[in-house]
Amino acid sequence: MCGIIGYLGKKQSTPLLIEGLHRLEYRGYDSAGIAVVNAEGIHITKTKGRVDDLEAESSKSIIKSTIGIGHTRWATHGIPNKINAHPHLSADGSIALVHNGIIENYAQIKEGLLKKGVIFKSQTDTEVLANLIATIQKEQKISTFAAVQAALALVRGAYAIAVLNNEDTDTLVVAKKSSPLAIGIGENEFIVGSDATPIVAHTQQVIYINDDEVVELHRDGTYNIVSLLGTKVSPEVLKIDIDLDKLEKGGYAHFMLKEISEQPEVIRNTMRGRLSLDQSTVMLGGIIDYEQRILRAPKLTIVACGTSWNAGLLGKYIIEELAGIPVEVEYASEFRYRKSPLNENDVILAISQSGETADTLAAVELANKHKALTLGLVNNVGSSIARATCAGVYTHAGPEISVASTKAFSAQVTALTLMAFRFAQQLGTIQKSELQKLYQQFAQLPSWVEETLETKKKAQDISKYIAGQKIVLFLGRNKCYPVALEGALKLKEISYIASEGYPAGEMKHGPIALVNKGTPVFVIIPTETELKDKIISSIQEIKARGAYVIAIGDGKDKEINKSIDELLQIPSVPDLFLPVVATTPLQFIAYYSALTLGNDVDKPRNLAKSVTVE
Ligand code: M6R
Repeated sequence: MCGIIGYLGKKQSTPLLIEGLHRLEYRGYDSAGIAVVNAEGIHITKTKGRVDDLEAESSKSIIKSTIGIGHTRWATHGIPNKINAHPHLSADGSIALVHNGIIENYAQIKEGLLKKGVIFKSQTDTEVLANLIATIQKEQKISTFAAVQAALALVRGAYAIAVLNNEDTDTLVVAKKSSPLAIGIGENEFIVGSDATPIVAHTQQVIYINDDEVVELHRDGTYNIVSLLGTKVSPEVLKIDIDLDKLEKGGYAHFMLKEISEQPEVIRNTMRGRLSLDQSTVMLGGIIDYEQRILRAPKLTIVACGTSWNAGLLGKYIIEELAGIPVEVEYASEFRYRKSPLNENDVILAISQSGETADTLAAVELANKHKALTLGLVNNVGSSIARATCAGVYTHAGPEISVASTKAFSAQVTALTLMAFRFAQQLGTIQKSELQKLYQQFAQLPSWVEETLETKKKAQDISKYIAGQKIVLFLGRNKCYPVALEGALKLKEISYIASEGYPAGEMKHGPIALVNKGTPVFVIIPTETELKDKIISSIQEIKARGAYVIAIGDGKDKEINKSIDELLQIPSVPDLFLPVVATTPLQFIAYYSALTLGNDVDKPRNLAKSVTVE
């Protein structure tokens, strides 16, 4: 979490850093700060809270400078306040530093520095690193670049850092390990960011540095990259292609609402060039070289977190049903520490919107260590997981800014369905004529989701009731069960109402005790008949205990209609394609409930978009 930015060039740094921090604010918003250097030395401005507060504070006195660093924080060490806000200045005032990550051995390093008389102001691990660099530089009389290398050799943990020296207006030093960092290379200027979003407005040329590399950026436009082992590195300069409009709200009140509305287009983009109706084929170029190995594997293991995990669970249902390949779905945070047997026959599929989630990345690294085949299903092009995996499929959902993931989920499920189809096609588990029919139906998914966007008004009305509740339940069976999990996750993360998703059949084993008079229970109704009777029984059981039942379904079943209190009507679609369609109204429910409660929809409390620390 946390977003860092740096600038060195001809432009005034303060407005540029603040503009960049606005773009990075989705990564954390406990505090924000900037440091700039000019002939008088380092000037730091920081505030508790949002980048808007920082902007107001920094506009009080304009400091001229063309080099600076900035930070937006998701607190780890030390409460969110002004003292713990970055940038941190070394006690002697020589080094200012911003940091995204965690220095695991900071307490040990701090002890050594305290013995040398260093005085600390904050409770952060970052202030320790700033002082370590300053102390090494003073003791060894070396450049900041060399001092950063020497300090990082002593550090254990994760970091992306940007470092300024108070006597140097011409050099910016940055480094990374297990936290993302991109360096934009413009016309005699550099813009450094935790991702490319603050860079694209200035340049499309980007370098993604590797772990354990330190970079010295110079005012004349040259740069120097070395690994911590001292080897010189020649990076590849890539061209990034991010649509700036996608980084703006474009007339919507919130990014979440915009991103929900973008889903039909996103699904089309995920399918584009992969589903061919003319030839009745699915083709996934990103994994074609490894396809035989995947198809031969005894099972596929999906690792992911949060919403991506929910998409992964859907992937399991769909891949097993269509291709008959056994699939396991693991929380990356569990998988990375379990002693699960892994070898070169295993195939691990990591799902991540950001491509930077620390636990998912660690799971990939573990699998790589055991020579398993690692695949990525990632949205963020060039991200750490995309680079750490052997091959993969991009979801092409475009930048997702709202902390609550919506369009990324739809894109992930669409891509997993494409994978299932491809595997089924290659393994011959489904007859050609049947596949042809399914492909025709699948191609309609964007328009079904488009139609479903019309549930917005009804969802808004129902949300008024939901906003007043202490607990809300979500039930589904089979492929609708992950939808229930996703509905509950969305609601709890932005409305802060306790919400639980359950397989409907599990209700009797405990959760039904939560049902009281008026308890809202969302029930996702399958279109096809197989499980409908079971769902009807579940509805009767919870109704008998006073539940307020809101069904998500096509509204065609008279018996169900008699037993429910509200219907969020969606198009009648085959169960295979129902999950994405049925999730959309639940996204609206979460959005409008949070809005009714006056919560910050795009930046919910305690959360950040990319969880880049454990
Ligand atoms: O970037 P990732 O997909 O790896 O992120 C995983 C989760 O942190 C993420 O899905 C989180 O649960 C969302 N805030 C849910 O809306």
